Amino acid sequence: MNFLESKTKENLARAFAAECQDGARYQFMAKSAKADGFSFITDQLKMLAKNEMAHASRFYQLMLKNLGNTKEDNVPIEAGYPFEPPELSSSLQSASDIELYEAKNIYPAFAKIAKDEGYAEIAEAFLLIAKVEQTHHLILQAFADMYKNNCMYKANSKLLWKCSNCGNEEERKEAWLNCPLCSYPQGYVMIPQQKIQQS
Ligand SMILES: [Fe+2]
Ligand SMILES: [Fe+2]
Repeated sequence: MNFLESKTKENLARAFAAECQDGARYQFMAKSAKADGFSFITDQLKMLAKNEMAHASRFYQLMLKNLGNTKEDNVPIEAGYPFEPPELSSSLQSASDIELYEAKNIYPAFAKIAKDEGYAEIAEAFLLIAKVEQTHHLILQAFADMYKNNCMYKANSKLLWKCSNCGNEEERKEAWLNCPLCSYPQGYVMIPQQKIQQS
């Protein structure tokens, strides 16, 4: 099939736009998290934003590769994107929902179309990126639940908490309000992986 007339060309453009916007939204959320004192969450959001830019780059490269010598000045797409306040109280949940939708619906559907149209490499990229979006969904959902239940820094059993500023570690049920070593506030405490996975 001629790439210019393929559905895959439009899907790649849509996916590129979606990844750029996901990345931008995570940067806005990171700023909001930082302002609220959630430094560890800020770092996590920045990492997610970086992932999204890497996905955007992969889609962009695939577009260029498949266009070959053909130049496309403008690829029209029809798609909707959310515009929501970056405050963690609502944005963590909606970001989690968007990731799940990308992981379970959008990218698998785009992969199937790409495969049917004969673009195996693009189909594989959609599937690999869908897998990453699923892990993003799980992280964001865990943070959203912890935020909602006000238990970001509490656990039912002893966990190993670590200060992201000075590296001080301590096993306890609840993270310190101020680090005993560097006095940095609770927002710098790294939420243990175990707690994220249990959430
Ligand atoms: Fe992504
Ligand atoms: Fe993502």
